[in-house]
Amino acid sequence: MLQSMKISGGTPLVGTIEISGAKNLALPALAASLLTDGNLSLHRVPNLEDVKSMLRLLVHLGVDMGDLMAGTIILTANGLKTLDAGYDFVRKMRGSILVLGPLVARFRKAAVSLPGGCAIGARGVDLHLKALEHMGASITIENGYINASAPNGLIGCDIILPIPTVTGTENILMAATLAKGITRIINAAMEPEVAALADLLIKMGAKITGHGSSIVTIDGVDSLSGTDFTILPDRIEAGTYAIAAALTNGKLLLKNCKYDHLAALFDALHLAGVTHQVHREAGNEYEDIEVWRNIEIINPVSIQTTPFPGFATDLQAQFMTLMTICNGTAAITENIFENRFMHVPELSRMGANISIHGKTAIVTGQPFLRGTNVMATDLRASVSLVLAGLTAHGETIVNRLYHIDRGYENIDQKLRTCGANIERFTV
Ligand code: EPU
Repeated sequence: MLQSMKISGGTPLVGTIEISGAKNLALPALAASLLTDGNLSLHRVPNLEDVKSMLRLLVHLGVDMGDLMAGTIILTANGLKTLDAGYDFVRKMRGSILVLGPLVARFRKAAVSLPGGCAIGARGVDLHLKALEHMGASITIENGYINASAPNGLIGCDIILPIPTVTGTENILMAATLAKGITRIINAAMEPEVAALADLLIKMGAKITGHGSSIVTIDGVDSLSGTDFTILPDRIEAGTYAIAAALTNGKLLLKNCKYDHLAALFDALHLAGVTHQVHREAGNEYEDIEVWRNIEIINPVSIQTTPFPGFATDLQAQFMTLMTICNGTAAITENIFENRFMHVPELSRMGANISIHGKTAIVTGQPFLRGTNVMATDLRASVSLVLAGLTAHGETIVNRLYHIDRGYENIDQKLRTCGANIERFTV
């Protein structure tokens, strides 16, 4: 049954929001369980549809696990039933490709269905496959399946990525931990989730240096062991709520996030007239960030999405919603994905003035948006519509809510606690 969300806009959000664990670290961390026969205990795992999809895939492969309880799950891959990640398990989530590297590295063989079509662009996995081929795997694609085998194991080498692909870097990183010899990933993705995955692998016994920079070196080991690991806070969730505070002219305290992971967003928000204050407590590796609007009407700010540490593509739609009520015109350029403006027609239906010119959207601010029926098309597009609904005059219905549940833990509850007039219903 499909779910929708009804939002009566206009209430400033005021209160405290605890930031959940990062979806885009939880997914590769769960896949890393395939690299060892030991117990991998993961903490602060967010309860999200994408996480459930990954858990279903791992159960299908034969990974033993308890329930996800209060953010903790223990996984043991010491007797896999199959090395075949079929279409039914993979089609819902592109992140399923993250099982390929670990399976080939440890079991020397895998069949993974090509991840289903994705709304935000072609998003091939060619770079993942080329890298594994470079490491000695033979790969064929038949009937929509990637068949990979490396009967003698993977062999370390230099891999030069033409694009710093995030999950591609993570797949190579995991594969290289158990390869023979040294692998260097050149032009590696520098996203905090990639560096944190390397931290997890090091705790499991991997030899990795340079993670977090564009050249990562991995010296293969014979085996990895289980460990305990806590997932980083979700910078995209925190950024989304920071924008919500600005949009609704409220004041939010975002608990337990990492300011350094959000610096590009807070720079843009500062120019828009939004203030933030970072609170650090001795002994807490995370920070609390207080965010509020400091200006009557938001200033126009043009942004371009780029790989980390630049402005995150996963915050582009939300920032565009903020610009729909700015005091002028802003240019929003999407450089990472070729089709990530699907929120534009829906925002336009709410009264936004946006025109698309290639990879740039020109947004001319309006005094206000008007609530109406809108359709969520992908995760970040859908949350941008929820944000629009929070600031709009009147009532907004966001349909096809399942996209939001892929990546935002308890979003309606978190927003309601801060005063949002929001209700979920089944249609
Ligand atoms: N690309 C290729 N070939 C490849 C891999 C990537 O052409 O083999 C292209 C893609 O088509 C895209 C660009 O390279 O145009 C960058 O894609 P990347 O591989 O970096 O993206 P991803 O690894 O598939 C992750 C996140 C995305 C996030 C991007 C960019 C996960 C599970 N997903 O995707 O998160 O937008 O990096 O930062 O980590 C989201 O959370 O909403 C989301 C889409």
